[in-house]
Amino acid sequence: MPQVFVPKEITEGETRVACTPETTKRYVKEGFDVVVESEAGKHAHFTDEQYRAAGATVVSGAEAEAAWGNADIVFRVYPITPAEASRIKEGALLIGFISPHKNLDSVRILRDRKISTLAMELVPRISRAQSMDALSSQASISGYQAVLMAATYLDKYFPLLMTAAGTIQPAKIVIMGAGVAGLQAIATARRLGAVVEVSDIRPAVKEQVESLGGRFIDFPMDQSGEGEGGYARELTPEQLKAQQAIVRKKVVAADAVITTALVPGRPAPKLITKDMVEEMREGAVIVDLAVEQGGNCELSKSGEMVVVSGVTIIGHPNLPAATPADASLLYGRNIQALLLSTLSEGEVVLNLEDEVVAGALLTHNGEVRHGPTAEAL
Ligand code: NAI
Repeated sequence: MPQVFVPKEITEGETRVACTPETTKRYVKEGFDVVVESEAGKHAHFTDEQYRAAGATVVSGAEAEAAWGNADIVFRVYPITPAEASRIKEGALLIGFISPHKNLDSVRILRDRKISTLAMELVPRISRAQSMDALSSQASISGYQAVLMAATYLDKYFPLLMTAAGTIQPAKIVIMGAGVAGLQAIATARRLGAVVEVSDIRPAVKEQVESLGGRFIDFPMDQSGEGEGGYARELTPEQLKAQQAIVRKKVVAADAVITTALVPGRPAPKLITKDMVEEMREGAVIVDLAVEQGGNCELSKSGEMVVVSGVTIIGHPNLPAATPADASLLYGRNIQALLLSTLSEGEVVLNLEDEVVAGALLTHNGEVRHGPTAEAL
């Protein structure tokens, strides 16, 4: 029986867990032996007792230490550290987010220990793999949380309110980037009754924005910002300037701005400049979801809430961790769908002909298979 190990996440602020009692039950049914480190689900409010009831063995101390080396498969949420990577059995399978470009030391160890690594961020975004798409499941939570955070720190209501003391105008929210996170942010802000304006450089999203009740900020560029695979491409400096000029009026008049704009493999485009922030009204809020990729706002700082000219700028690096129970449920199901898709007669078989496995496999048999990571090494 292949043994799965679910270690406790040790990174500060990481509240999620990669395997829930629900997915544990399914793995046990499929014949896996599931070992969970005690308190692995603590922050997501899954108790050791619930894991035991689902059929897992719960370990701690020396037993947990040994479990790293005994497991055939290790599940993770947060990218593994080099020290942890060295504890995994040679030839075992690791499934989790890796952020390979930022964690080259861990990747080297995984490669040298001949560990097969399925990186959740590399799962191809094809229809068949939608249930395995952890980037989407977690980005959607980020979009939702970003709006709640903006609503919490904003000094006014989101909805239009007619009260005995008179009318309150709805909040004006600008959302930059209408990918998975941005679309969820639009839906959430609309549910709260705000007026939502949205900027993106892919013309294809205009319809999606409008179907959620957002107003699309038209971007009269001679060329579309659509790049490869349905993602955005990086704008030229002139195009970026033109876009800043278009969104400037909307941004400086907004009560809150939520930025989610990303270009794969590139630093986040700087859409909100320092002088735009200085022109915003005191009490306005910016939530920058792109902060880990350098930020869409020039002034945002990862892990910090800064106040500039009375504008609060929030750079939370891990918003899905603010909704740990549902983030873990969805992430756990993403991993489950990926792992179970590899089963052949009860055995995990990494079929390199399979588009999903081939795309997600970062290291295998002593090699780094992901081109950009191999190049970076
Ligand atoms: P992302 O996180 O890479 O980027 C977020 C958004 O920022 C994108 O909409 C992008 O166009 C926008 N952006 C980039 N530069 C910008 C700029 N200068 N100004 C304003 N906006 C800018 O994108 P995400 O969320 O990963 O989704 C990308 C696409 O992939 C979407 O069309 C989505 O529908 C599609 N997708 C398809 C899936 C599937 O078929 N299984 C699953 C998930 C996403």
